[in-house]
Amino acid sequence: MKLSVIGCGYLGAVHAASMAKLGHEVVGIDVDAQKVALLSAGQAPFFEPELPEILAEAGQTGRLTFTTDMSRVADATVHFIAVGTPQRHDGNAADLTYVEAAVDGLLPYLNADHLVVGKSTVPVGTAASLAARVAETGATLVWNPEFLREGFAVKDTITPDRLVYGVPAGDAGAHATEILDEVYAAAIGAGIPRIVTDLSTAELVKVAANAFLATKISFINAMAEIAEATGADVTQLADAIGHDERIGRRFLGAGIGFGGGCLPKDIRAFTARAEELGRGSSVAFLKEVDAINLRRREHAVTLVVDGLGGSVVGKRIAVLGASFKPHSDDIRDSPALDVAVRLHGLGADVVVTDPQALENARRVHPHLHYELDRDTALAGADAVIVVTEWDEYRRELSPSHAASLATGRLIVDGRNCLDPAAWRAVGWEYRGMGRP
Ligand code: UDX
Repeated sequence: MKLSVIGCGYLGAVHAASMAKLGHEVVGIDVDAQKVALLSAGQAPFFEPELPEILAEAGQTGRLTFTTDMSRVADATVHFIAVGTPQRHDGNAADLTYVEAAVDGLLPYLNADHLVVGKSTVPVGTAASLAARVAETGATLVWNPEFLREGFAVKDTITPDRLVYGVPAGDAGAHATEILDEVYAAAIGAGIPRIVTDLSTAELVKVAANAFLATKISFINAMAEIAEATGADVTQLADAIGHDERIGRRFLGAGIGFGGGCLPKDIRAFTARAEELGRGSSVAFLKEVDAINLRRREHAVTLVVDGLGGSVVGKRIAVLGASFKPHSDDIRDSPALDVAVRLHGLGADVVVTDPQALENARRVHPHLHYELDRDTALAGADAVIVVTEWDEYRRELSPSHAASLATGRLIVDGRNCLDPAAWRAVGWEYRGMGRP
């Protein structure tokens, strides 16, 4: 099939390359000429496992091209909208400027043979408000949310947990479903569940999924706060409740909380939209979810300050991690980097290390000291804090090796990813999040 993908950020670049890998002919369109140049050369503009390989593979087949020229959408009949919907600068709502621009840019090229497929995460009701404009051209608008996780984006795109199609009622919806089934023939053939809904339900599925995940993380972080007041251990608590299949252990990792380009902005946009709908009280708990999440960053900072006797002024602190989670170079709303910035603000001599995210971190926080080499970052440190659970820190850093480099013996485990006994055994003072 001939597809266009408008917006070649995380979602769009991965979607374009994955669709080409599946055999479709794909043109990716982005306003950023530098990004287009990189993608055209087969290079990923961000760190994402498997993406460079499929970009190179699809590029060689000639089925995947990238351009800044919107008129190239005329080569395709199915158009995916994959532009960003960041948080607005003036509040919590989502900024829909890019979605609006993508749809407006497409309109001159559409006719009754075309299908426009929204993938961006949008406030419920957005698709309905765009559908009339698309319908004037004879084309149909559907919403097909994406659930990809950074670090597993290619796998999540090619073999998702489920497919959700939000389509209009009647023949137009039935026809759109057939077209999407053809796009996703490989996944459908593999028996991946497909749920066909109306437009609003599809939009809501995405924000509800992210709200649930955020709530699960903040729930366990709330339990960590109670554990701290009582001497209980939140990781054992999570193991114990996680054995209940109805609860499940995943996303019960207590620590410095969630960040990234999705969960924080999505729960805020959801709250803002619910308030517009007069249903603010239905999701009022998401404000608490947000507040718990942000409190945990401050708590990690407090653990370092207290562990160093009440002040970090002039103390060298090795901060292990900058990305919002491992297997990513994304620092958007990164709890890890936030902790580093807060410690720096308190007068600490902060040294940040991360295997992938330093270039991005330096661009946004040029005042921090960065070291790519983990051991150089550890050398002479008065305290060490793990804020992103990369294998380099979690599995591959032995407590005795760290002790041979650092000057102090305080280790703060912001992700509860270390073995306290192993660190204590060689003389470290171990402090975790919600652990005695
Ligand atoms: C998320 C959703 O998982 C995905 O389905 C959606 O499409 C986009 O948003 P992503 O932002 O890539 O994906 O990251 P995710 O793996 O969900 O992690 C989000 C954050 O939660 C990270 O900062 C992570 O460190 C944190 N987290 C996750 C915890 O603090 N504890 C956990 O137990 C799990």
